[in-house]
Amino acid sequence: MIIQQKTDILPSEITPKEVFENRRHFIKQAGFGLLATTALAQTNLLFAADATRSNAPIGKTSKSLLSLPNFTKTAYGKDEKLTSYEDVTTYNNFYEFGTGKGEPATNAKLFKPHPWTISIEGEVKKNKTISIEDIVKLAPLEERIYRMRCVEGWSMVIPWVGFPLAQLIKWAEPNTNAKYIEFVSLADTQQMPGVNLPILDWPYTEGLRMDEAMNPLTLMAVGLYGEKLPNQNGAPMRLVVPWKYGFKGAKSIVKIRFTEKMPITTWMKAGPKEYGFYANVNPQVEHPRWTQSSEKRIGAGLFAGRIKTQMFNGYTEQVGQMYAGLDLRKYF
Ligand code: MTE
Repeated sequence: MIIQQKTDILPSEITPKEVFENRRHFIKQAGFGLLATTALAQTNLLFAADATRSNAPIGKTSKSLLSLPNFTKTAYGKDEKLTSYEDVTTYNNFYEFGTGKGEPATNAKLFKPHPWTISIEGEVKKNKTISIEDIVKLAPLEERIYRMRCVEGWSMVIPWVGFPLAQLIKWAEPNTNAKYIEFVSLADTQQMPGVNLPILDWPYTEGLRMDEAMNPLTLMAVGLYGEKLPNQNGAPMRLVVPWKYGFKGAKSIVKIRFTEKMPITTWMKAGPKEYGFYANVNPQVEHPRWTQSSEKRIGAGLFAGRIKTQMFNGYTEQVGQMYAGLDLRKYF
């Protein structure tokens, strides 16, 4: 299923990861603090195709998101050891492009994440459509380093670039019936070879409870490692929920639907005994096929031991109160 044609990536789109990593290292070493953060935010202008674009009024741009607009850094995860760019972009789950870990990187090479629009539907004041270029203007973009835990028992640490989903929800204007949000990924049989196979009930859908979606940790990612999201990681926009198993992070989202009832997600349909709606990282609730009490950090090396998995992937302080009184064995 390997598609072999010329790629259309512009040389100007290729961001030097080494520069990014060296700069991070230098800043850490020098301990420049706020000064360095400001300098970094300024140098990020290098990544913007058109720096003035971010000041353009919503609805007035026609240019596609060819590279990432300016973004700032936050304190989120600054002490974590990052998984290499190589591993983050070649060890993927994106079944629309095949079920092998290396297949998305190969099969998504020619995928076109632009032009791209996202429709907002369901329990909202009014249905709307928004382009990816306008979405990135809704809120300032920031880098957040999150630990990511896959239900299959491996984990990574990824420097995402995005904005809080709460900002998009505010713009979407849900009504008081909206209790949940459903995220729908693209299912394009022409571009996505996996969609032609009955691997999952396409399109890939995921969901969150409204308070989970509004939690400041919940991110709409449009980039990683300082560059626009690679196709295999869910270009041009995907969900990132670091206290939940990775499958909650729907990729290449085309629709966001606000609902009164809990949505039935793709994985719940595929294996209701294995995948619950909540999917919170929980070392006390085992999965029938993979252990949830420990994890293998991708890229740590052959002889590195497994890491103990933490409740809510270590984000209990930020999210634990949302589940007070909920039986997490029943609502897994
Ligand atoms: N989104 C879509 N549309 N299709 C998928 O197959 N896989 C999920 C999630 N989002 C998936 C998806 C799973 S199982 C995981 S672990 C993460 O994406 C992996 O994200 P990454 O490849 O960027 O690490």
